[in-house]
Amino acid sequence: MRQTLVAGNWKMNGSLEANHQLLKSILEGVEAGVNAKVVVCPSTVYLAQAAETLTGSDVSWGGQNLSPEKSGAFTGEVSADMLLNLKCQYVIVGHSERRALFGESDEVVAEKYAAALAAGLIPILCVGELLEEREAGETETVVARQLDAILEKSGVEALSAGVVAYEPVWAIGTGKTASPQQAQDVHAFIRQRVSEKSASVAEKLQILYGGSVKPDNAVELFAMSDIDGGLIGGASLDAAGFLAICRAG
Ligand code: 13P
Repeated sequence: MRQTLVAGNWKMNGSLEANHQLLKSILEGVEAGVNAKVVVCPSTVYLAQAAETLTGSDVSWGGQNLSPEKSGAFTGEVSADMLLNLKCQYVIVGHSERRALFGESDEVVAEKYAAALAAGLIPILCVGELLEEREAGETETVVARQLDAILEKSGVEALSAGVVAYEPVWAIGTGKTASPQQAQDVHAFIRQRVSEKSASVAEKLQILYGGSVKPDNAVELFAMSDIDGGLIGGASLDAAGFLAICRAG
């Protein structure tokens, strides 16, 4: 039985004041009781604030990105060890915004995934197709290519220590959610592809759905057999809404 995982990707939002309130409210809500494992991913500069507020609680935190490099002359970058220093447990890898806006190739994403794992972080690998790829019937080809980059570089065992998030790009921030069945079909495909390498890794792999998850669609999505939780963008910035999503699992 896989535990439901709900992670909030705050993207480039927040401030010390706003985060203080948001973290406090999420903490109180989780302490009041949720079944899902809850993770928040604030901007890097606020990870220390998250650590200060959440240490010792059931809420974990993570980065939104990391460098594949260990250290050195890489201005503006953040290493896996730095995230660990701030007691991150998770890190998002290969988000579609990183792929599209910052030119991250499948190979770079695979290097980042490997760097996260080597440091002992739990990578949340994002995969997903563009609208034109879906319309061209290429969803499975694209998702398979993104997944295979990890399998080829790090092997299937690397997925036993990570999480996959299926985020169709056309559903991110658009208010257009994949239907539960559309998402389930791709999640089942991902699990099937992993099971070709290892049935036991596939069975245990948490596969999250991301893309316009809201309190009013989370229950239906999370009820699908291969959807093990969500990676939440916009709705994770509102404590009441995020907690409602956490309770949907
Ligand atoms: P939205 O929930 O705002 O669509 O964003 C999803 C996402 O990109 C999470 O990583």
